[in-house]
Amino acid sequence: MESTSTPSSAPAAPEAAAAGIAGPAPATGTLGVLLPGLGAVASTFIAGVLAARAGLKPVIGSVSQLAPLEGPDGPQPARRIKDAVPLASLDDLVFGGWDPISANALEAARTAGVLTEADLNPISSELEGVVGMDAVFDRRWVKRLDGHRVKQAMGKWDQALALIDDIERFRAENHCDRLVMVWCGSTEAFQQPSEVHATVKAFEAGLKADDDNISPSQIYAYAALQCNVPFANGAPNLSVDLPCMRELARERGVPIAGKDFKTGQTLMKTIIAPGLKTRMLGLRGWYSTNILGNRDGEVLDDPENFKTKESSKLGVLDTILEPETYPELYGNIDHVVRINYYPPRGDNKEGWDAIDIFGWMGYPMEIKIDFSCRDSILAAPLVLDLVLFMDLAARAGAADVQDWLSFYFKAPQSTDGPVVNDIFSQLEVLKSTLRTWAA
Ligand SMILES: NC(=O)c1ccc[n+]([C@@H]2O[C@H](COP(=O)([O-])OP(=O)(O)OC[C@H]3O[C@@H](n4cnc5c(N)ncnc54)[C@H](O)[C@@H]3O)[C@@H](O)[C@H]2O)c1
Repeated sequence: MESTSTPSSAPAAPEAAAAGIAGPAPATGTLGVLLPGLGAVASTFIAGVLAARAGLKPVIGSVSQLAPLEGPDGPQPARRIKDAVPLASLDDLVFGGWDPISANALEAARTAGVLTEADLNPISSELEGVVGMDAVFDRRWVKRLDGHRVKQAMGKWDQALALIDDIERFRAENHCDRLVMVWCGSTEAFQQPSEVHATVKAFEAGLKADDDNISPSQIYAYAALQCNVPFANGAPNLSVDLPCMRELARERGVPIAGKDFKTGQTLMKTIIAPGLKTRMLGLRGWYSTNILGNRDGEVLDDPENFKTKESSKLGVLDTILEPETYPELYGNIDHVVRINYYPPRGDNKEGWDAIDIFGWMGYPMEIKIDFSCRDSILAAPLVLDLVLFMDLAARAGAADVQDWLSFYFKAPQSTDGPVVNDIFSQLEVLKSTLRTWAA
């Protein structure tokens, strides 16, 4: 199979539409949600949608469902985003995924321990019905996990073909009109892009040669794009943040987005840093530390996997504070991020921030934040919004990197321009894009 072939039945979006922003086609029929990684985030997300559909729980934290879309000249008349733009309905979602350990979403939810049995009971059979397909998995990229539900003894090219088969089988069996894939798998070991990632041709040659630089998440991304399935990356590893994947996304007319869900500590950082800058207060240092006891924390306990996360977490301050423009305020910042695996906490991460600021005449002050959060409770609504917005973008014919979804990511991918990390600027871009698609 060459990159120009069309292994799926879905047509590539027309080039004219892919280049710009057109009115989206209606959201009719079933939207399949494919999740590589059926762990804490994925199972909490699926459970929340099922509970909302049954009228049992509200969708707190979902901007697509709850936030207003104001008119261009102010807040009135404001409708909820879900009523103003043609999004898929929660009732139209079906779920699937892959995992090397979890057999199904119910088992994953119980292992993760995020939700109580009382909340899982009413939706347990639906969760159990989301059965994990055998994963493309390689321990070299996630040393702390030992997966056994994996595609056995295959080269990387055959793994890609097997994933394409999985995607098309899922599409047919569930009568899906459209699909979206969101990587909710473990953070892979740190890597820099290499020659094999430079072009689609090089990547396909690399798959055939079992190139060591190709990670499992990249094989999922390749398979998704070959099937015209939008791909969003919730982890910091390189998946679609690569020249070859951008080339393929453009060629096939498919939206991509990443990387690393912006949830606990980085969410706070991108809320507080713009506030300090608004008042022209100086920053001397920001020390962030976390204790986390879930499987994600265990994976991130390995230095190579932590390095991937660290680079995504460290990037945010500079783009918000602009030290080149304000050297007297932000020219000398020590920014440190630590994560420690501490099993007693499970998914309930505690993040501390010691922030050293300075004010009038340079006098120092300190801010302390202690955020006892629930990691997957914060991440689940982001998965929902990304699913619905990536599907919207695909129906509008928008291809390549979706900068307007930076709001959701710690290390946003951008088309070519500067990366925006300030959450308020990100929200503006999100809403102004949605306004162009409002019905
Ligand atoms: N929870 C948050 O707030 C948050 C925020 C930002 C990013 N993330 C990222 O989201 C991802 C998921 O987080 P989580 O808390 O659900 O972790 P988790 O460990 O509970 O789930 C990850 C799942 O991915 C599976 N997996 C590993 N390699 C795989 C592969 N090659 N194919 C398919 N499945 C694979 C693991 O078996 C595991 O079940 C992690 O990468 C995490 O760093 C989470």
